[in-house]
Amino acid sequence: MEKRDQNPKSVALIIGVTGISGLSLAEALKNPTTPGSPWKVYGAARRPPPGWFPTALVDRYITFDALDSADTALKLSLISQEITHLFWVPLQVQESEEVNIFKNSTMLKNVLSVLVSSNSGRSCLRHVALLTGTKHYMGPIFDPSLAGQLMPYEVPFKEDSPRLPFPNFYYELEDVAASYSPAITYSVHRSSVIIGTSPRSLYNSLLTLAVYATICKYQGLPFRYFVDLLSCVPYSLEKGEILGFIRSGTTQVCRMKKSESDGGFVQEGIVELCPTLASKGEILGFIRRMYRTKGPESGSSFVLRGIVELCPTLTRKRRDTWVYKKVGNKYTWEHFFDVSDSRLLAEQQIWAATTDKAKNQAFNCTNGDVFMWKSLWKLLSEIFDVEFVPFDDEKNEKFDVVEMMKEKGEIWDEIVEKHGLYKTKLEEITCFEAMKLVLHFEFQHVSSMNKSREFGFFGFVDTMKSIRMWVGKLREMKIIP
Ligand SMILES: NC(=O)c1ccc[n+]([C@@H]2O[C@H](COP(=O)([O-])OP(=O)(O)OC[C@H]3O[C@@H](n4cnc5c(N)ncnc54)[C@H](OP(=O)(O)O)[C@@H]3O)[C@@H](O)[C@H]2O)c1
Repeated sequence: MEKRDQNPKSVALIIGVTGISGLSLAEALKNPTTPGSPWKVYGAARRPPPGWFPTALVDRYITFDALDSADTALKLSLISQEITHLFWVPLQVQESEEVNIFKNSTMLKNVLSVLVSSNSGRSCLRHVALLTGTKHYMGPIFDPSLAGQLMPYEVPFKEDSPRLPFPNFYYELEDVAASYSPAITYSVHRSSVIIGTSPRSLYNSLLTLAVYATICKYQGLPFRYFVDLLSCVPYSLEKGEILGFIRSGTTQVCRMKKSESDGGFVQEGIVELCPTLASKGEILGFIRRMYRTKGPESGSSFVLRGIVELCPTLTRKRRDTWVYKKVGNKYTWEHFFDVSDSRLLAEQQIWAATTDKAKNQAFNCTNGDVFMWKSLWKLLSEIFDVEFVPFDDEKNEKFDVVEMMKEKGEIWDEIVEKHGLYKTKLEEITCFEAMKLVLHFEFQHVSSMNKSREFGFFGFVDTMKSIRMWVGKLREMKIIP
């Protein structure tokens, strides 16, 4: 019988082991065929392991708060000289990206300080694998103060795009990791929306949709796609001028005027929103890709510029007044999107951690296929046995899933009780607000996997099969019925 290696050469520390990606990482590292095996695995998170967490996946579970430098030193110093590979998958999300930068980079600095700096020459740490995401190419989309100003790169997103001129905690994490190079190598893994299981995840999109579908089934409600984000602003226009838009439920409407210098549009001023008009459900057009430039035009230090996109569903009879029908989020319904299976992310992170050529590189990591939300909605309707509700421009009224779900906490408690599920709170396991924002993208959310393949990583996942598998796993874990 093969003797178990008592002193494995590869010792992993996963920070964020109970999260959506941490869980799959622990599973992958314990697979005996994984590169670098056998791995000794330390898994860490702030809270003790939940009941559903398979503790056999880690050699030791460590509870500590990475934001607290004293706690980090206390809990990690005993193992710090053993760790050869750091897998970085924790996440702190606050209202503003500036705070995200501070919190996420403080956590990484605290941990690296214990693993490297305080071990003066005795550290075994060889590699840091950082999980980040496509916000690298889109900017901090969840920061409300930047709403409407971000301009994502053209798709497919590519790793060599320069950084965007907006604060971004991913950039900061990369810089912290790179500051330890060349002594310690690093790799960056840019994920799309992650598909996996953890109910301890801040953003578990599949679980969010699964809970929504389960509640619709339970209450006999239609399983509708998220419709409302671009509320609609009818207004009388003079030719060449366009009134702006209302985004994310804010009440800011901008009057945009064509700029004589570059053909772009310049914000003229904030015009007051008339709610009665807005509720009629018509829109003139909307401003796509808002961005700020320094300029003297308005007398302020910043000028908002935007590329105007007129709604494609022009109402012919009213063409003369430039009135357009609302578009809601039909774009994502019928355009391409990609996601990242958490198992694939784990595979790529371990590959990069054990492959010389991949060191000090950033890689996109998505399933490698694309889908339309229409198809995914059909699949979810089938899996959760609810009627498929097509997106219908004519019939779809304004519908705000975030508002609807605020009322459903008690219904979820009832479902949990009835089916003997692991006890969860609806607001803790779902992320409707973030989902709503993502489903209202007006560009195809697709990353290129070419660089990853060129460097020798060929992993891929069939998204539709993976969705079925993960829903099955959520049921097995008794998170959903
Ligand atoms: N989820 C997605 O769809 C998605 C998409 C694209 C990119 N990403 C990126 O992927 C990376 C990992 O995110 P994720 O979604 O996998 O995270 P996640 O599922 O929310 O998990 C976060 C993990 O970090 C732990 N944690 C948080 N604060 C901690 C602290 N102060 N000290 C110790 N542990 C702490 C959590 O444990 P506790 O719960 O006990 O605090 C949990 O185990 C992030 O950079 C994120 O932006 C995620």
